[in-house]
Amino acid sequence: MDRSKIPTVPLSSGHHIPLLGLGMSHSGGYSHNALLYALTKCGIRHIDTAKRYGNEVMVGKAICESGVKREELWLTTKLWPGDYGYENAIQSCLDSCKRLGVDYLDLYLMHWPDAHVPGKSAREARAETWQALEELHEKGICRSIGVSNFLIHHLDQLKEDCYVVPHLNQVEYHPFQKPQELVDYCRRNNIVFGGYCPLAKGQALNHPTIQKIAKNYGKTPAQICIRWSIQNGVVTIPKSTKEERIQENCEVFNFHLEQEDMDCISSLNSNRKLIHLTYPLWRG
Ligand SMILES: NC(=O)c1ccc[n+]([C@@H]2O[C@H](COP(=O)([O-])OP(=O)(O)OC[C@H]3O[C@@H](n4cnc5c(N)ncnc54)[C@H](OP(=O)(O)O)[C@@H]3O)[C@@H](O)[C@H]2O)c1
Repeated sequence: MDRSKIPTVPLSSGHHIPLLGLGMSHSGGYSHNALLYALTKCGIRHIDTAKRYGNEVMVGKAICESGVKREELWLTTKLWPGDYGYENAIQSCLDSCKRLGVDYLDLYLMHWPDAHVPGKSAREARAETWQALEELHEKGICRSIGVSNFLIHHLDQLKEDCYVVPHLNQVEYHPFQKPQELVDYCRRNNIVFGGYCPLAKGQALNHPTIQKIAKNYGKTPAQICIRWSIQNGVVTIPKSTKEERIQENCEVFNFHLEQEDMDCISSLNSNRKLIHLTYPLWRG
């Protein structure tokens, strides 16, 4: 599909993020060919990665090989809690840019609110780290800056402690996990809501309700989940390492879910979280 067919969402930074991107998780592996295919055949222009996924060098190579111009691309990467703190955050961003082979990032996210800097409270550590992101933004190295997995109280604290309100918050979002209070908070505060795990890591695809709706529309369960997410205005980043699935996941702009079906999918919400972190992240 043409890039022009993927709508964008305005951020308070003044930049526009494509509503649909390609996830690049380390779990399940990385496929160079699939990323190349996404860029050259599917019109994908938004890539979501992280230092933690360990693939920034390979993503950089694929971008280079694809021939897609830097200015046509939206590149998000994330700062791991082990690199929090002012100096570390600045260095870590520059290292990510180097690995990706770029001189600026479209979006740089603090990966988790869990923060540990010796002698500081978690709140102070987050604020100090965020100040580094504000400076990277000011210098144009990060065109937009944001956070991931932040809850309302983390965002409230950041608002009190810092100057720039995060441009985006990326959080788990799928039919079994629809954190509406957080979505509403973000919208009230001009923070774009980004959703990860839109397919519930594949678990939503076997649900009878999703399968029934998919059958009614002549679409696949993955397309229904992605359409539901984007139709809710959520920046959505399904991940696949398979070319045919990436193609399928991009074909979500040629149909519309009726309100009744949107509500039916939303009613599956059971606050089920798939991403659990049980160890101190800063040690990882
Ligand atoms: N900020 C954070 O803390 C955070 C946390 C988790 C994820 N993320 C981001 O969100 C992205 C997506 O999340 P995710 O990978 O955890 O979950 P997901 O996108 O909900 O699901 C990915 C799983 O679904 C399979 N799949 C993809 N398309 C399919 C299709 N059309 N039909 C059937 N199966 C399909 C994939 O397998 P194959 O690869 O084999 O196709 C993979 O096992 C990640 O890549 C990452 O960029 C961010």
